Amino acid sequence: MPRKLALITGASSGIGETFARKLAARGYALLLVARREDRLQRLASELPDAEALAADLSTSSGISKVENAIASSPGLELLVNNAGFGTLGRFWQAPLAGQQQMLDVHITAIMRLTHAALRGMTERGRGAVISVSSVAGFNQSAGNVMYCSSKAWINSFTLGLDLELRGLNSPVRVQALCPGFTVTEFHDTLGVNPNLIPRWLWMTADDVVEDSLRGLDRGDVIVVPGWKYKAIVAGMRFLPMSALRRIQKLRRDRRV
Ligand SMILES: NC(=O)c1ccc[n+]([C@@H]2O[C@H](COP(=O)([O-])OP(=O)(O)OC[C@H]3O[C@@H](n4cnc5c(N)ncnc54)[C@H](OP(=O)(O)O)[C@@H]3O)[C@@H](O)[C@H]2O)c1
Repeated sequence: MPRKLALITGASSGIGETFARKLAARGYALLLVARREDRLQRLASELPDAEALAADLSTSSGISKVENAIASSPGLELLVNNAGFGTLGRFWQAPLAGQQQMLDVHITAIMRLTHAALRGMTERGRGAVISVSSVAGFNQSAGNVMYCSSKAWINSFTLGLDLELRGLNSPVRVQALCPGFTVTEFHDTLGVNPNLIPRWLWMTADDVVEDSLRGLDRGDVIVVPGWKYKAIVAGMRFLPMSALRRIQKLRRDRRV
């Protein structure tokens, strides 16, 4: 029986690193993917059974490297599509290269890695894929167009896969994890001062990942960690579109 393996993208910091520590505690062997190999190696050395795989998921060759690792891992039980980042500025004013990279990491990489993983998982009749989305996937905001729309794609993609899997009575599960503001390196990398965001909105990566893994045990397809964000998302989903658009327009000029 091959060892039970989890592959985590974006494992060099934040939510991905937290997934690595919590999954190691649940007895998973780990394959840790990101660009910063030194960080991955350091984390791997702290965990009982972990390996680093350096790959840039904004490139086709980087994605191929991880696809190959998935294809040669018969014990793969969990894929965590977590790598991601934000950009600043109005869509047409921000450099196109950054928007394209976001599309490649948030959409192309997730599509290709999930395709590679589900082939084996559905044949073996076991396994799961968690894709880290965001509460932003339920919303639109000026200055954040590609981020919100790429995260909305993750939610829709995951809900569609869930229909296909449940339609076949497959035990394989998929989850879109939709956190709100989480204390990680995300906002530093983006160049946004985290102090501008009200304190009560922040969650820890530990709480976010704990909710995700509890949701996985229950088979939840959309997981929004924290009661405050559950209430915000419920409001966004059930408000009439006209009311939501009025609220979004109030925020517009503060973001860009
Ligand atoms: N923090 C929040 O408030 C928040 C809220 C909602 C959703 N999220 C989502 O949570 C996920 C994890 O972000 P985080 O908050 O943990 O931020 P983080 O600490 O900045 O981690 C981002 C991870 O993604 C990896 N990554 C970025 N670009 C990559 C690329 N081209 N190829 C491979 N790996 C890449 C980074 O590794 P390298 O730089 O080493 O490649 C890093 O490990 C993202 O999908 C983000 O959109 C975050």
